[in-house]
Amino acid sequence: MGGSSLSRQKLAPTDANLRACADALLAGEAVVMPTETVYGLAANALNRDAVLRVFRIKGRPADNPLIVHVLGIDEARDCVATWPPEAQKLATTFWPGPLTLVLPKAVKIPPEVTGGLFSVAVRVPRHKVARALLAAAKVPLCAPSANRFMALSPTTADDVYPEIGDQAFAVLDGGPCEVGIESTVFDVASCAVLRPGVITPAQLEAVLGHPLGAPTSVERLSPGQYPRHYAPMTPLELVEELGPEDAGITFGAPQNLRQRQLPRDPTAFAQALYTVLNDLDRLAAPALRVARPPSTKEWEAVWDRLRRALG
Ligand code: TXA
Ligand code: MG
Repeated sequence: MGGSSLSRQKLAPTDANLRACADALLAGEAVVMPTETVYGLAANALNRDAVLRVFRIKGRPADNPLIVHVLGIDEARDCVATWPPEAQKLATTFWPGPLTLVLPKAVKIPPEVTGGLFSVAVRVPRHKVARALLAAAKVPLCAPSANRFMALSPTTADDVYPEIGDQAFAVLDGGPCEVGIESTVFDVASCAVLRPGVITPAQLEAVLGHPLGAPTSVERLSPGQYPRHYAPMTPLELVEELGPEDAGITFGAPQNLRQRQLPRDPTAFAQALYTVLNDLDRLAAPALRVARPPSTKEWEAVWDRLRRALG
């Protein structure tokens, strides 16, 4: 694929750069694109070689399915075999936004995308750079988070590790991600949340008008849900409060330069979590301590990511 894929380029999302990235995608290259949740490593979902390239760059097992990103409901319906009323209700309420719907896949979606499953995960991102790229490329884009397998997801262009960025055509810089943690993944057939996110079960129930199913066989249904995931290199531990010598995340005032204060608000905490963990990870401290957040429902998505980072 020429020299372009050998050197990392951080690009501003100008019209010319978006066109160049769209052309690179259509030629089978990967592009790091910002979304409102985290940065994704995008490729043309209809091109098997491009999809395999994403798995290779990430070091991701082939049975771990990717999310397909599209511009709107019409394009999503093109990727799936059925579009039940539940999908229509959820899509009209939450798209564009951080909700991924799992539905039976259309024939045109190659099995490489879905890890051999008969279902496909689709989502309509709301980040304007992701939307501009989708509009320019005019193909569905599969995009896992732009990190190596099992590492922390990037939420700024600078947090995209060179191992990933250098193998992509470019890193499109869309600024810091507004949501900060990955989308809620919802399986329409079993009516269950497979991965918690900022769109909560209560919000989904309110739209559907009935309670959700239990996420019973998540490991089988959603093979990406490994117990350890989203982890920094430095060992992480939960504590009630940070001591004066500790490095980590605190709700109170920082006691040294290796402590970062986060708000006691689940949305703001989620928004900053990966950025702060990526930053603290570079300190090469022996351990990072995180002050225990509240255990209420609103903190469920944050707790899910913390548990995986703890291992
Ligand atoms: O916010 C996000 O969703 C980000 C941005 C870039 O859009 N993407 C992301 O992708 O987090 P990834 O590949 O890191 O996570 C995809 C998740 C995994 O947990 C995977 O198991 C699940 O979606 N998934 C994908 N296809 C599935 C399917 N057919 N059935 C069940 N789960 C699926
Ligand atoms: Mg990921």
